[in-house]
Amino acid sequence: MSDVSDILDHVDATLDTRLERLFDLIRIPSVSTDPGYADDCRRAAEWLAADLVSMGLEASVRTTQGHPMVVAHSPKVSGPQVLFYGHYDVQPADPIALWDSEPFEPVLRPQPDGETHIVGRGASDDKGALMTFVEACRAYVEIRGALPLNVKFLFEGEEESGSRSLAPFLEATADELRADTVLVCDTDMWDRETPAVTTMLRGLVGQEITITCADRDLHSGMFGNAARNAAQVLGDVISSLRTSDGGVAIAGFYDGVSDLDPAIAALWDRLPFDQEKFLSDIGLTIPAGEAGRSVLEQVWARPSCEINGMWSGYTEPGFKTVIPAVASAKISFRLVAGQDPEKIRAAFQDHVRALIPDDCSVSFADHGLSPATSMPTDGAFLKATLQALSEEWQTEAAVAGTGGSIPIIGEFQRRLGAEALLVGFGRFDNRIHSPNEKYDLSSYHKGIRSWVRILDALSQA
Ligand code: BES
Ligand code: MN
Ligand code: MN
Repeated sequence: MSDVSDILDHVDATLDTRLERLFDLIRIPSVSTDPGYADDCRRAAEWLAADLVSMGLEASVRTTQGHPMVVAHSPKVSGPQVLFYGHYDVQPADPIALWDSEPFEPVLRPQPDGETHIVGRGASDDKGALMTFVEACRAYVEIRGALPLNVKFLFEGEEESGSRSLAPFLEATADELRADTVLVCDTDMWDRETPAVTTMLRGLVGQEITITCADRDLHSGMFGNAARNAAQVLGDVISSLRTSDGGVAIAGFYDGVSDLDPAIAALWDRLPFDQEKFLSDIGLTIPAGEAGRSVLEQVWARPSCEINGMWSGYTEPGFKTVIPAVASAKISFRLVAGQDPEKIRAAFQDHVRALIPDDCSVSFADHGLSPATSMPTDGAFLKATLQALSEEWQTEAAVAGTGGSIPIIGEFQRRLGAEALLVGFGRFDNRIHSPNEKYDLSSYHKGIRSWVRILDALSQA
């Protein structure tokens, strides 16, 4: 690794202006799932393209069927080619009433422990995180006049709502986007002091189900017992999804799932993980997943089935003696390697249909479908990255898994033949997707510094 202390000093001295640019981006409410924010999504894309142009890159906004993409290229130099991917879209801010400040008016909030929080929707996921990379590149160019390797950028605006345009876009631009490796900044650190490269992501199958029984809501005294209750049928369906020891009870669900690779198990065993604290931090004490498997294994390496929402009958104040005719639920499955998302969806639908009485019906709506991805735990780029991270944070960087999903990573493997390196500076308590989302100022500052070191290390890998 070469000496980049001049660039790191420059980052330290100019952090305020780097923060102002992040604030400008957070102020654009680029909520992808709500069509009412489509213009804001385009504005966020245009803001990013202009930002990249202002640091000497060639950048453009590309229209898609959904929200636009941003593609940029650095001027050609010798050395490897990397592609940086990030998403400029954010989750809705709802419920707004639970925010302590305006979600799209970022503020700095000093904390008792000396940390400062950058609070706002997208402060962490993914605007703060992607800007650590952009600002590292800017600092590099400001001091050295050029980047030390070839960088392409791809920003999408539909990650939080299923990345629908991404596969066709990658198909069409595969030649333009080809790279030796893909860099992503959208994951967490191991703990407050320990940076991490994430090498396993779970896949996702989202399903909404609606069960219909009678042709109207009924008086539960006049029709009780005799008329089928849709909420009861939904309850039966939901309770049939899990076994008593925490497994998923759908036939074929575990087909293709293998036990944790001993090499990965060994890496994870070295991580200081406190399973009791993990649960006590969220007000719980009893692990609910498969008996005999650690919490880390449960959230990183085992597939799951979770009810994300359900509704039926009368839920307003007071009481109404009614037999609901309709009941619905949103259910998602997190998948691990070996599971085929299409097969899981079909197995779930078969499982549900078998439980629906003949005079009732069920319909399904699909939300998201992506397989799990795992990345190699060796290789020159990973090694260089771990070394650069360890230097910045003065502690050995971790190789970790995550229970979350970034559906597009698998598409890079399939369509560009490139592996991804997931480097993240998020902290576990960032409240991403929740009210009062924050990014630590130290994540932003040391994240930028880390990428400066990583760029240098990769240029020599
Ligand atoms: N950045 C997250 C994924 C993530 C979360 C990685 C936590 C590591 C730790 C990403 O933006 C996300 O929220 N993904 C969604 C999937 C998407 C299809 C809605 C998820 O994991 O629920
Ligand atoms: Mn994200
Ligand atoms: Mn997200």
